[in-house]
Amino acid sequence: MLERARELDAADPLARYRERFDLPDGVIYLDGNSLGALPKATPERLEQVVRGEWGTDLIRSWNSAGWIDLPQRLGAKIAPLVGAEGHEVIACDSTSVNLFKLIAAALAMRPGRKVILSEPGNFPTDLYMIAGLEAQGLATRRLAERERLIEALDDDVALLLLTHVHYKTGALHDMTALTEAAQRAGALVLWDLSHSGGALPVDLNGCGADFAVGCGYKYFNGGPGAPAYAFVAERHHAALEQPLTGWMGHAAPFAFTDDYAPASGVARLLCGTPPILSLAALEVGVDLVAEIGVGRLYAKSQALSGYLLECLAEAGVITPLPLRERGWEEGLGLVSPADPTHRGSQLSFRHPEAYAICQALIARGVIGDFRAPDVLRLGFAPAYLRFEDMALAAHQLADVLATRAWACEEFSIRSAVT
Ligand SMILES: Cc1ncc(COP(=O)(O)O)c(C=O)c1O
Repeated sequence: MLERARELDAADPLARYRERFDLPDGVIYLDGNSLGALPKATPERLEQVVRGEWGTDLIRSWNSAGWIDLPQRLGAKIAPLVGAEGHEVIACDSTSVNLFKLIAAALAMRPGRKVILSEPGNFPTDLYMIAGLEAQGLATRRLAERERLIEALDDDVALLLLTHVHYKTGALHDMTALTEAAQRAGALVLWDLSHSGGALPVDLNGCGADFAVGCGYKYFNGGPGAPAYAFVAERHHAALEQPLTGWMGHAAPFAFTDDYAPASGVARLLCGTPPILSLAALEVGVDLVAEIGVGRLYAKSQALSGYLLECLAEAGVITPLPLRERGWEEGLGLVSPADPTHRGSQLSFRHPEAYAICQALIARGVIGDFRAPDVLRLGFAPAYLRFEDMALAAHQLADVLATRAWACEEFSIRSAVT
């Protein structure tokens, strides 16, 4: 397997990008879908912003270094990576906060409709943000299983809110079909692109999406807690009203007037002062994704995940679901779609001891993550992963299962919780 992996690496057109990341020795990092790795250029850029811009030019840098426009400038760089126009995307706040602003904006655009439709098991913050507006009496949450979403659309639905790539299973929604169905029912659509942006091609305008949000710290490698981004289709710019009417979203923030007047376009999504250091770090990650190209990244991620599956199948550790009646310990159940065109850049496996298996892998330098109650999640950030990493990770995973290394007390949930 290792020999074949090395041949694949030798033929990989993206292999040279690994050099652009600062990766610790002896680690196979399969968690870039949670926190992307550190681009080598980031510390240098931050040093320049801190010492050169902040340290030397001080407050003048809001203009001289263009800090004041950074949310828009960076939004314009993210835009083509998600199929949007430059003036339709802004980098600001967290994904959660942007969800809140855009759910509230959608409700205001659909008077007489209060239902926000989503699916059970969507990422918690998406569901909690609906719940927050529900507690204020502004929204009603409706959840329908993914196969039932279209029939759950009726004329009470103001907004369909879904995550394009499911955070736990990696399953992809059909953005075009769902957007069309929701709009036919008179609803608006908000896509959470946290696991899509920078990982796979997305065409927001091509599918007629109304709104979108996404994370900066996953596939865009912006660093822990990096700012998020928000998209509003141009046709909604004039009518968009969001409730976090901070001074930075004002038409003339430095007029210091008592009354709020929204800025034009997506700038009205701004709330408070932009976090310049975090935005500067995110810009490095976004530039790198743009340089490599999302299409090439996705193609390689499909090849990597396919190869990992091949290695695991060869080692005999994949068991078809459902497993319960056969005893789970026989192997890992693949919960991600087996067809690579139906999944994002991750593979998820079910096992009752997934937590302990994940910990045992981490102890061996293979970093993936665990999602309760029983999912081992492995993410593929193809800019810095090699086919060799897949072969080695599969070998470690098969060995952890074969030797029951996970059963060691040190890795059990009990010892982690106490
Ligand atoms: C689908 C999805 N939405 C939102 C978030 C997180 O939002 P925030 O950056 O506000 O914590 C995540 C984080 O993993 C996510 O997977």
